[in-house]
Amino acid sequence: MTANDKFAGITQAQMDAHWMAFTGNRQFKQDPRIITAAKGAYFTSADGRQIFDGLSGLWTCGAGHSRDEITEAVSQQMKTLDYAPAFQFSHPKAFELAERITQFMPAGLNRVFYTNSGSESAETSLKIARAYWRKKGMPSKTKLIGRAKGYHGVNWGGISVGGIGPNRALFGEAVAADHLPHTVLPENKFIKGMPETGAHKAEDMLELIALHDASNIAAVIVEPLAGSAGVLPPPVGYLKRLKEICEQHDILLIFDEVITGFGRMGSNTGAEEFGVVPDMINVAKQLTNGTIPMGAVIAKQEIYDVFMENGGPEYAVELPHGYTYSAHPVACAAALASLDILENDKLVPRVKSLAPVLEESIHQLKGLPYITDIRNYGLAAALTIDAAPGEPLLRPYQIAMKMWEKGFYIRYGGDTIQLGLPFIAEPEQIDTLVSALGDTIKAL
Ligand SMILES: Cc1ncc(COP(=O)(O)O)c(C=O)c1O
Repeated sequence: MTANDKFAGITQAQMDAHWMAFTGNRQFKQDPRIITAAKGAYFTSADGRQIFDGLSGLWTCGAGHSRDEITEAVSQQMKTLDYAPAFQFSHPKAFELAERITQFMPAGLNRVFYTNSGSESAETSLKIARAYWRKKGMPSKTKLIGRAKGYHGVNWGGISVGGIGPNRALFGEAVAADHLPHTVLPENKFIKGMPETGAHKAEDMLELIALHDASNIAAVIVEPLAGSAGVLPPPVGYLKRLKEICEQHDILLIFDEVITGFGRMGSNTGAEEFGVVPDMINVAKQLTNGTIPMGAVIAKQEIYDVFMENGGPEYAVELPHGYTYSAHPVACAAALASLDILENDKLVPRVKSLAPVLEESIHQLKGLPYITDIRNYGLAAALTIDAAPGEPLLRPYQIAMKMWEKGFYIRYGGDTIQLGLPFIAEPEQIDTLVSALGDTIKAL
């Protein structure tokens, strides 16, 4: 491979063999964007350029890439214990990490069930919710409620409660689910942080209860801040009201914090930042700083206790669920090192102090052509881009491709451009990124 080889020496046969995830394969394979290395807030592209990572990987690598502490921990772990069976046997770090994770969670959420991804966390939490009610003698509580514009990964439960149309359309009927409306209101354009109006959208939960009856509903799952739909902060009071309604009607509330967990909002969790404690929290991504796949569902103790109290003889499996790679020792080592970095480098307070810089910077783009809305919270921000006639997805794609050419990696999804700055970003890097984005949109 030469320094200027965009294809990184990948042969045509190799290129053909890889069916890429969530990618326009036909376009990519003609004009690939190959990353060969990463350090700190930068990727190195195959053609030898330094690319600023404006999405922290995929909302994963807030502490920056290729951290020595994680490399060291993972490599030590591989040498000591490369794998331990996850069913009926375990290893010390699984327990150490479980307790460590609970230290980042709101009080009362203190039982950790491991998964390997955000999608698996969604499935796991939804299955726990249904099984919980069965264990409590209420087997009719099976219906799952998600929200329009919600994203909970790509497995059957996740797409059933998910509310991003194109992610569902191809796959037909899955798990019985219904949806709350999303919280985007026409009057809430170009709002900095949380919109003041919109809490009333939680009242729609009462409509769903009237329709299905609480005796048939197991759980509601929402992202405290919807990420994949384009950074939708919750309206002030919305989550609190949703929680009240769930509590009054014996419906479990699950927060999908796969993006918001471990710092991105400027607090350890969205639950903490927005002051509402759900019954379960799903995490992944930032848990290992993106290095090794790992996720978890953190349940309040009462849920765990119901399984233990109704689990049959002590040697019986209380929850027949789990993965070959649950609590993988290498992932545990990566997570422990990542959480140490978050704490030692004070990255969560750093997000809080950088959030106003991003807010100030991104909202300066108001007034540029095609931008119909700007939203932000913590180190997450997004623009909504007016659709080109007949090609609703074209402009965000063009913007992201031009930005890649200019040396910036950002995300485009649906009609939005999304930024998820690394927690280690410097204020000047944020401004440089946003100003390049503005120039790119002006030149469209
Ligand atoms: C809120 C949320 N839930 C679930 C997922 C799915 O995670 P994964 O891609 O690790 O399966 C994502 C991924 O972006 C997410 O943002």
